[in-house]
Formats: sequence, C-alpha cells, structure tokens
Amino acid sequence: MKLNKTLLMFSLLTATSATNAGQVEVLHWWTSGGEAKALNALKDMLEEQGHDWKDFAVAGGGGESAMTVLKTRAVSGNPPSAAQIVGHDIQEWGGLGFLTNLDDVAKQGGWEQVVPPMVTDIMKFNDGYVAVPVNVHRVNWLWANPRAFEKAEAKVPTTLEEFFIAGDKLKAAGIIPLAHGGQPWQDATVFEAVALEVLGSEDYLKAFVELDMDVLSGEKMVEVFTQFKKMRNYIDANSPGRDWNVATTMVINGDAAMQIMGDWAKGEFSAAGKVAGKDYICVPAPGTSGQFTHNVDSFAFFELSDEKSKKAQKALAATILDPKFQEVFNLNKGSIPVRLDMDMSKFDTCALDSMADFKSTAKTGDLVPSMAHGMATTSYAQGAIFDVVTHFFNDKNADPKQAAKKLAKAVKAAI
Ligand code: BGC
Repeated sequence: MKLNKTLLMFSLLTATSATNAGQVEVLHWWTSGGEAKALNALKDMLEEQGHDWKDFAVAGGGGESAMTVLKTRAVSGNPPSAAQIVGHDIQEWGGLGFLTNLDDVAKQGGWEQVVPPMVTDIMKFNDGYVAVPVNVHRVNWLWANPRAFEKAEAKVPTTLEEFFIAGDKLKAAGIIPLAHGGQPWQDATVFEAVALEVLGSEDYLKAFVELDMDVLSGEKMVEVFTQFKKMRNYIDANSPGRDWNVATTMVINGDAAMQIMGDWAKGEFSAAGKVAGKDYICVPAPGTSGQFTHNVDSFAFFELSDEKSKKAQKALAATILDPKFQEVFNLNKGSIPVRLDMDMSKFDTCALDSMADFKSTAKTGDLVPSMAHGMATTSYAQGAIFDVVTHFFNDKNADPKQAAKKLAKAVKAAI
C-alpha cells in the first residue's frame, strides 16, 4: 500500500516535469575530444533541469561549415533554438530579424555586473541581448612539447627570430617544427599571429578592424607576408586539409614540437590527461607577449513560437552564465571564464596567465579582436582576407609585395 502511494507520487512528479519540459536544439561545431567534453557539461546541466537536448553538430574547426548549414535551416523557416554564432555575425543575424531578445534573462542573472562591457557589447543587437557569451579564448598562443625541444637542444622561442633558429634545430633532429593544418582558417590563425608581432597592436587594429587600405597594402604588411612565408619551411608535407586537433595530437605525441593555435588546443592536451608546465608548455605566439588576440565564443538565440521551447531556451541562456557551468566548461575547453568574478583556484598556469593578460591588455590597448575567428570584421571582409592569405601560403612562388597589394584590393572589393 505504502509502496503504491510512493509510486503514485513519483509518477505525478515526473508527469509535472514532463509537462514543463521543453527541447532545445543547439547548433555548434564542437566535435573534437576537448570541445565535446566541454559542451557535454551544458547538455547535462540542461537535462538536470528537465529539458531535452537535441544535438546539432556540424564538424569543422572555425565554424565555416556550421554557418553554411545554419543559413539553409534558418532560410527554410526552421532555425534551431540556439546556434554558435560569434562576433560580427551576431549583428548580421540580428539585422535579418532572426534573433530573440534575452534582456529578461540577462537582468535576472545580473550579466551586466559580471561580464565586461567589451564582451556584452558584442552580444547585443540594437542595445538588447540576443546572444550569450560562453568564454574568452586567447588565440595568440604557441603550444610546445618540452621533450622535443630537449632532444633538439633548442629553446622555446619568444620572438620570430628565435622561432626560425629553433625550427632549424628541430628539423636537424628529425622533428617537425610546426604542426599545422592547411585549412584557410588555420592559415589565417598563424597569419594573424605573425601580423600582431610585425604590425604591433595599433596597426593590427588599423588593418583588420578599420580596414585601412594604407596599412593593408603597406611596407609592414609586406614584411608580415615575408615572415609568414618563412613558416612554410617548418611545416610537413602532409599539412593540407589536416584538422587542427590532429595537428595538436602531433605535438602531444612529440612528432611535432609546436603549434600556433588558440587555447582550444589546451582542451585537447587536457582531454589526453596532459599537465600544463610539465607535459606541455604554453607561451604567447612569437613576439606577442603583452598582446592578446581575443575570441569570445557565444550562442545566439533564435525567435521561436512554441512556449515550451521558449522556456527551455531561456533555461539554456541562464545556464551558460551559471558560475558552476563556467568553471567546468572552461576547464575542459581551454579558455577562461567570461565572468570576471570567478574563483580560479582550479585553473592551470596557462589559464591564469590568460586571465591576467586579458585584464592588463584591456588597459594598454593590446587587447585585439581575432580576424581569423570573426571578431575583427564582417564575414565578407574576413572571407576576402582568407582567400588572399591561403592562396599566398599554398603557392611557394608567391610574392609578399604582390600579396599585400592583393590583400587591400580584395578587402576593398568585399566592403
Ligand atoms: C572557436 C573555438 C573552437 C575552434 C576550433 C574557434 O573558432 O572559437 O571554440 O574550439 O574554432 O573548432
């Protein structure tokens, strides 16, 4: 009898939560080991609240394929609840009228008090929240395998000059100096790291944010292409088409010594059980210490009509900025929390350095948006830059002077 009563109560309870439960369909491109582990925390926390998670993963680092699929879905009138959309793209989607307002969730969660304005500005369209930030990635990192450096008797480089010296020693020791994946966004990721060093923060901003034709075609840009071209000599012949996480695995295994990549690479080291400062080393990309290229991941939320789905959507938005989620997600993703009030005691030295530099570079003017990851300019200008950079990098006879001219021309035609 007692048992029956308990059963009845249980079924009543589950019936209530099933009535309130909604589904969120979430489009993203987080399919590597570290990325998937990080995202699972969001799925788990949403399911704990009684909602269903419908995964909509479109593989491909940098998100180009995901954006193509999203456009098709949205245009056919069937958008997901939320999609990984970053930087300038948020404005483009907002302008098309697809996104929903999240100001009530933001107010309840006190987002304005804990997230820096530089980030909240990106999340708003017409002054209202339409997207939620997940993290802050630093893009200008160099990941190094200390055993490879010991074997080659080389020093982890802090400047471009040192990079080429170390590269020659590593090559002589039979180790691939730079693990690289020949895909346009990865070429652009290395290119912008070189550009940050050679141009300096001020001219980097002029080139990729203001799209200043004089800087895009100028002498310093010629030097950027010259240094970038030299990097080709330190990459193996199998790099074309290689995924970024496969390149990271080469550094983890010691087949390659270094990778220039954002700190989502750290997510791969962590997923492989590797420890920062012991099994691998993180240092700013050559010549860029005291500078910070940022890439803020975010989810934009689409206008839906079903009430239950709307409820689940709001629960998703609130969960993303929950301190508990911010901790577990960023520990696995390699990034730092986007909330500035977090307890950082569980984070490693790379994350602590990143947080310190994120805060200090915001004051010196050395915190710059990543061109390669859609934070600096529109998708049109970015696409034009990608084309020139990738063609240049794939043509061993390409001329840096011509490339700088082409860069300005291509950007001018795209805007
Ligand atoms: C995203 C990261 C992601 C990386 C590789 C970047 O554009 O910001 O979150 O891990 O692409 O997929």
